[in-house]
Amino acid sequence: MLRVTDSHFRRLARILSPNSLLYTEMIPVQAVTKGKKNNLLSYHPSEKPLAVQFAANEPQSFAQACLLAEDCGFEEVNLNLGCPATSAVKGCFGLSLMKNLDQVLPLVAAAQGVLKKIPFSIKTRIGVDDCTTDDFLWNFVEKTSQAGCQKFILHARVGLTKGLNPKKNRQIPPLDWNKVFLLKKSFPQLEIIMNGGITKIEECKELLLHTDGVMLGRKIEKDLFFLNQVEETIFQNPINFSLPEILEIYFSQNEIFAYRKSNYWLFRPLLSLAQKFSYSKNLRQEILQAAKKPMELEKFLSFWPKEKN
Ligand SMILES: Cc1cc2nc3c(=O)[nH]c(=O)nc-3n(C[C@H](O)[C@H](O)[C@H](O)COP(=O)(O)O)c2cc1C
Repeated sequence: MLRVTDSHFRRLARILSPNSLLYTEMIPVQAVTKGKKNNLLSYHPSEKPLAVQFAANEPQSFAQACLLAEDCGFEEVNLNLGCPATSAVKGCFGLSLMKNLDQVLPLVAAAQGVLKKIPFSIKTRIGVDDCTTDDFLWNFVEKTSQAGCQKFILHARVGLTKGLNPKKNRQIPPLDWNKVFLLKKSFPQLEIIMNGGITKIEECKELLLHTDGVMLGRKIEKDLFFLNQVEETIFQNPINFSLPEILEIYFSQNEIFAYRKSNYWLFRPLLSLAQKFSYSKNLRQEILQAAKKPMELEKFLSFWPKEKN
């Protein structure tokens, strides 16, 4: 998730869930294949298993980015075909590509051609603009799977390339989990992952009866502790770190992230832990304060509850 699942956030998430597969933010392939070397593909070893998500619309640079990703040790390369932002529509990547199989199939073939050790997946919607029929989605999945993609993450909403901003595109088009169940029934050999509107552990359990996995977005952004429930219920691996222990582990890995100059990136993920506490408004303010200007770690930690979660 852009401006959410950066390396710091993922490292914090990993403390709460050793087993979940984490995804990077969407990275435009040009950002890693052109210009100066940058840190976009850097991560802390504790973040693994980790998938990288690319935005791409041209096979050559996409193949290059896939090779880099494999070299960097990611567990999966994911292609974003679901981003509805105006910049994506203008740049012809993300959701708008979903309508254009002529452009998508060479991208899938490019990934297939170069990835030797790790799988490739597509993240997309259940339809785009006026292409909302079962035939459209079934044909998309059939053709892209024939080209080599065996894993699909479906945000179970139609996306609109015009008229709705990204936020509304995640709220207004109705959720249709059932369509994803039917897709899985039609393509039992493919790995089909459900995404969209999942907020309860009971929902995860129910959805896992019909699909191969669930992807959680905003629920985790708002409440990282939900990963504890995921770990305990789905992976049968209860994690019993107290809040002080979580913070201690998080800050002890801090120096590895020296490449980020601002404190903002270090402190911001903690907002997703703060939500749970009754005085979370004050805690939020302290986190934002610490993100703005240096604060003694000890002083910062004194704002947090001492008891076990
Ligand atoms: C702030 C924000 C940033 C997002 N960035 C991405 C992104 O970079 N790549 C992506 O595939 N989806 C992105 N999404 C969409 C989510 O991955 C997810 O598909 C969507 O929010 C629906 O799932 P949810 O109901 O579990 O949040 C983003 C969502 C939000 C709220």
